[in-house]
Amino acid sequence: MTQPAHNLLLFGATGDLAQRMLLPSLYGLHADGLLPPDLRIVATARSDLDDSGFRSQAGDSLSRFIADRDFLRPEVARTFLERLSYVAIDASDQAQYGRLAETVGKAKDGLAIFLSTAPSLFEATIAGLSQAGLTGRDVRLALEKPLGTDLASSRMINEAVASVFPEERTFRIDHYLGKETVQNLLALRFGNSLFEPLWNASGIEHVQITVSETVGLEGRAGYYEGSGALRDMVQNHMLQLLALVAMEPPAQFGASAVRDEKVKVFRSLRRIGRDEVAANTVIGQYKAGAVGGAPVPGYADELGHVSGTETFVALKAHVDNWRWKGVPFYLRTGKRLPERHSEIFIQFKGVPHSIFASRGAVVQPNKLVIRLQPEENIRLLVMAKQPGLDREGIRLREVPLDLGTANVFADSRRRIAYERLLLDLIEGDPTLFVRRDEVEAQWEWIDAIRDGWGFNRMTPKDYAAGTWGPSAAIALTERDGVSWHE
Ligand code: BG6
Repeated sequence: MTQPAHNLLLFGATGDLAQRMLLPSLYGLHADGLLPPDLRIVATARSDLDDSGFRSQAGDSLSRFIADRDFLRPEVARTFLERLSYVAIDASDQAQYGRLAETVGKAKDGLAIFLSTAPSLFEATIAGLSQAGLTGRDVRLALEKPLGTDLASSRMINEAVASVFPEERTFRIDHYLGKETVQNLLALRFGNSLFEPLWNASGIEHVQITVSETVGLEGRAGYYEGSGALRDMVQNHMLQLLALVAMEPPAQFGASAVRDEKVKVFRSLRRIGRDEVAANTVIGQYKAGAVGGAPVPGYADELGHVSGTETFVALKAHVDNWRWKGVPFYLRTGKRLPERHSEIFIQFKGVPHSIFASRGAVVQPNKLVIRLQPEENIRLLVMAKQPGLDREGIRLREVPLDLGTANVFADSRRRIAYERLLLDLIEGDPTLFVRRDEVEAQWEWIDAIRDGWGFNRMTPKDYAAGTWGPSAAIALTERDGVSWHE
């Protein structure tokens, strides 16, 4: 049994992710009494602050980013902030890690390290930690994306990490795996006997995964311009969702079993290379338009120069194995789309023969809609008869069987995805973290697509901000007689 950490060392503590997500998440765990009572949080970044300066900055972040005012109680916030200390270091300077080690104390007591810094600092940080003795059997390392920009760079990062931290103590974060509804997908599939017999090419017509966002660059031009939608969203979050939909039942809900099954899915993804990209992928870049009634500038205007980076991608994927033979998986994601809406949509096959056809009724195939955001719910669309005496024919209507977790579990607090992941890191459970072979298989598939785009000189098509991407994205599915679920 792994021991819980007694120290959490947070790199990049003054950054956006830490202020918006990590500190509010840690507060949430603290408020619910879930953190080890003696857990100390040592924050580090370059900014020249002392403990009280950082605590006051952290306090401001809690006020800004914890939406539920009742949950943010002054006395609880005070005891939370007391857990925090701060050491200013330049992570690229090896000589400064000694000071960090002094504050952390004996790493032997169990240390969890969270790197939320630019990947260019990963190697130097790992070397610094190692030199300062902040590694060892009781030290775990969590890494935030981006873990490279392609397979080769991801391997370099993984090698650098592996030289100090063995795989079982390396926790690669994909925050989508911390989302409640994403985990609920596993409960739905493997906690019920109802779905699994149909969960294959005989029962399912196609799968859609959409992650649409209304935001644009959000001041992240430096990162996003070198990334684009495929690497920012598909390589990680969307492929993880696809794997959870497509994987075989693991023998247990444990780190090896779950990740073994996911990696098999990544390795079964049909390669989309130079000959296939044009027919199976669509890329777009938003121009000026309006989102939610407000005018917004185009991507290149925000950036200040012309760019070939895609802010939208739609693609048609296949998992080439027995279970999924011939079932298309349509994926799309983009910035500045009409609404923030992330979901997995499963369209089952229709009934083999409709007994109602002679009475003029249309029978729609069943659909399962798993909504991740903005609200979390799971709906199964089934056919029901519209009440009436049917003198003019039978009328059937699609009605939702609402598995709305929001209502059933109304008394449970909705947590930030990072709460789950931080607690698992502190307690040493890697099940919801991404293993090296997964990341590398994901990159291999993504690299082939990018190589195909380059080879075919594919450039993003325009779409107006506030629309569902270029019209070619609609054609991608319509060719197969499928409409995107909106
Ligand atoms: C991040 C991406 O990983 O996920 C962002 O870098 C994106 O570009 C974000 O906005 C979306 O996360 P969520 O949880 O808001 O869907």
